[in-house]
Amino acid sequence: MNIAFQIPKPMDAHVHFREGKMLDLVVPHTARQFSRAVVMPNLSDPIFKLKQAESYHQQIIDVSGDGFEAFMTLYLTPDSVSQLAMWTPQHVVKAVKMYPKGATTNSDAGVSDLEAVFPVLEIMEVKNIPLLIHGEVSDEGVDVFDRERRWVDEGLEQIVKRFPKLRIVCEHITTQEAAAFVRESGENIGATITPQHLLHDRNVMLGNGIKPHWYCKPILKRKEDRDALLDLVVSDTGRVFAGTDSAPHTKNNKECDCGCAGVYSACSAVELYMTAMESVLDFEKESNQGIARRFLSENGPKFYQVSVSEEMMTIRKGETLIPNSFEVGKEVLIPIMAGESLGWKI
Ligand code: NCD
Ligand code: ZN
Repeated sequence: MNIAFQIPKPMDAHVHFREGKMLDLVVPHTARQFSRAVVMPNLSDPIFKLKQAESYHQQIIDVSGDGFEAFMTLYLTPDSVSQLAMWTPQHVVKAVKMYPKGATTNSDAGVSDLEAVFPVLEIMEVKNIPLLIHGEVSDEGVDVFDRERRWVDEGLEQIVKRFPKLRIVCEHITTQEAAAFVRESGENIGATITPQHLLHDRNVMLGNGIKPHWYCKPILKRKEDRDALLDLVVSDTGRVFAGTDSAPHTKNNKECDCGCAGVYSACSAVELYMTAMESVLDFEKESNQGIARRFLSENGPKFYQVSVSEEMMTIRKGETLIPNSFEVGKEVLIPIMAGESLGWKI
């Protein structure tokens, strides 16, 4: 079977670049496979202000070179009002990210009282700025496997009712409930899905020894949930797109007593997505190649109201070996499926 097809160079609508030596390593991995990425603001010193986003943007472009477009995001707090009052569409900031307080890495400054950020959402609705949501309740009393479904019922419904025109991306969705919500929503609601949530359910992480490099937030769910995500991609709504949530943490910070949440996938992201989609799509059919093209390259730009990349990339059957590790100064970074081989290459 000798399949090869071309797609416009994809967009990664959700990525973590970090800073310093880690940024130097991971930005080129993303820029190799993606023409554009939406960059998350949860640095240890979060990106609250437009000025911070400008200087972080410069650090990224200094490493990637000019061919790559970084869409910056602001970390939502009640104070975002003053920043967004100054915002214009030409700014490098293209969206605002909402973290529930305590839900994930560097989310201490996240939202604990939804109504306190309503004035921000009001401005965003008027100025047509997308809201990117980490959709989990962060109440420690709620089971970690239920935190996303609870958010859909308790938080998301409330925001959508109150701000019906606000453009929202439900980031890294992982459950049947979130998939159904997105499927039934209107044109202003989109979603990203990571490669890991399309590839596997929680058995891969917990079923046979504990595999920390599959651990991320939201945590991998059941088989039925993964099936619902794959179904959503196959049903080709036009509002669901690649967002890797590639989130590098050093080996020491993953393989320890209290390991960090985050999967590193940027080095082989497109091959991982193809491997996952191949489980439900026969890529000998051109129509199915079209589904991959829209998911990887077209739906993200469409949602962000920008043009699709003019640069083309060829995806073909062939072997890709995922590296065992990368050096980050004196530390080590382990990618997901390290040392394994995939049946697709770009
Ligand atoms: C992300 C990180 O490490 O910054 N971790 C993760 O597990 N996905 C934060 C996030 O997107 O939740
Ligand atoms: Zn993320």
